[in-house]
Amino acid sequence: MSWLPSPADEAARYRVHICFGPNCSPRGSHALLPVLEGAIRRHGLTSQVEIIIASCRNRCDDGPSMNVYPGPFFYNWLTPEAIERIVELHLLGATPVEQYLYPRRAAGAAPR
Ligand code: FES
Repeated sequence: MSWLPSPADEAARYRVHICFGPNCSPRGSHALLPVLEGAIRRHGLTSQVEIIIASCRNRCDDGPSMNVYPGPFFYNWLTPEAIERIVELHLLGATPVEQYLYPRRAAGAAPR
């Protein structure tokens, strides 16, 4: 099976897969979606970022999880504050936020 981008997909600069899987959901991923949407809207990125509700990302112990494409960049240990930083620094500023990247943990990151 092949994947062909639609014209709308081609316009999106980033594709964000936020995990609503069975482990990330009880860890709060559903509550992160409006935070993600709001941050994208506030930064004027609605035409540049496509959000996809995704199933398990295979990093359940470190969820909530989210992937950003192109990359992929695997983000974990997400909180509302983490989402705000990822949108501002990565999706707006093109600089990945190492503190939340899997499997690396920057000094000071709070592992679960
Ligand atoms: S349920 Fe989200 S990574 Fe597995």
